[in-house]
Amino acid sequence: MMLYERAKKTLPGGVNSPVRAFEPYPFFVECAQGSKLYDADGKKYLDYCMAYGAMLLGHANPEILDAVKAQLQKGTLYGTPTELEVQFAETISQVSPCMEMMRLVSTGTEATMHALRAARGYTNRKKIIKFDGCFHGSHDNVLVKAGSGAATFGTPNSLGIPQETTQNTIVLPYNDIEALENTFRAEGQNIAAVIVEPVMANVGLILPKTDYLQNLRKITQTYGTVLIFDEIITGFRLALGGAQEYFGVKPDMATLGKVLGGGFPLAAFGGKSEIMQNISPTGKVYQAGTFSGNPVSATAGMATLNYLSKNKPQLYPQLEKKASELKKFLLDQATSYQLPVQVYSIASLYQLFFTAQDITNYDDAKHSNQTMFSAYFHELLKQGVFIPPSQYETCFISTAHTEDDLKFTTNALDCALRAAAKTRTTP
Ligand SMILES: Cc1ncc(COP(=O)(O)O)c(C=O)c1O
Repeated sequence: MMLYERAKKTLPGGVNSPVRAFEPYPFFVECAQGSKLYDADGKKYLDYCMAYGAMLLGHANPEILDAVKAQLQKGTLYGTPTELEVQFAETISQVSPCMEMMRLVSTGTEATMHALRAARGYTNRKKIIKFDGCFHGSHDNVLVKAGSGAATFGTPNSLGIPQETTQNTIVLPYNDIEALENTFRAEGQNIAAVIVEPVMANVGLILPKTDYLQNLRKITQTYGTVLIFDEIITGFRLALGGAQEYFGVKPDMATLGKVLGGGFPLAAFGGKSEIMQNISPTGKVYQAGTFSGNPVSATAGMATLNYLSKNKPQLYPQLEKKASELKKFLLDQATSYQLPVQVYSIASLYQLFFTAQDITNYDDAKHSNQTMFSAYFHELLKQGVFIPPSQYETCFISTAHTEDDLKFTTNALDCALRAAAKTRTTP
């Protein structure tokens, strides 16, 4: 508490990203190891936030740390190209179906911002389509009806962004192919890009309907619009080749981040060479970054991709099995408490909504019971399990989560469901 009071004096809300704030106050982490976080008061938490999905291989993964330690001796930033960046880009290109060429950047926000600029530069069109509740970082063009912290704190349209800036951003409901077709019929020739989270993971977890992504691909192809998969969360999580591999849909461009950096700031945007050749200095779309391709981040990223490539045959099915087990447990227990819930999982992601209705878009998600979710979150925290504090986020499993961790989790989940049930108001 004292640390929180101190933090609030120099950091808005005491945090460096709004999603980290929750009532009454967030815990401050001292260190992390494997699947656990340890706070400044010496309390241990089993972590299902995993730095909002970035830590697929667990905290302080020894293989990543060893690689990084070796790199630190050689310098941390050069401002000139390295063979490492080339090797890293080649590896990404081999595993991510659409990434013929790319630029490495430092954050997902940068990646989506530049991907959209590249798409506009390539098509010479102004408009972009995003989907209600999808979150693509905190830059002006996409901070319109955005998910994640923007949804949690009721600021999906931020102050400080002039209406003129977002007038070329069209927002449509996710999973609604008819709405998309109608928009394209009306103004398809003006639409530079469609940007989408192939699986929505910033308003809880929402899966694409059968053939939705395939249809998205077809329509964008018909109109010469650049399809951008924002794979900042799904990349390397759904499969080594992300949602592109999982669903067998190849977009024109993709953005990658989180897992890609192995716990260090790193992201990438890229796609068809024909589009990426327009980036400066070969083309007239400007993009730059002092820290882009940082050798420490690239080293951590390379170690991550090597580990994933080596272990993917067993690693992905094991992670998916764990998420399915938690989903089944939640559904069974909720049924026994006569609690109306929806639980969704895919690969190593899962999330629960307190509602009787199927969730297919952000509007549906908004109708889930937030009071119950808050009781569920706080009881989990009390039990020593940390999930993202908001209904509008997703839980993440890592390779460091053991069978014992899962057993511990199911006990805590049971208490949390009972706590949620207690908040039920009798009609
Ligand atoms: C799908 C998606 N895109 C983009 C971003 C922005 O990434 P960053 O926080 O690294 O800027 C996020 C962050 O949560 C995200 O989930």
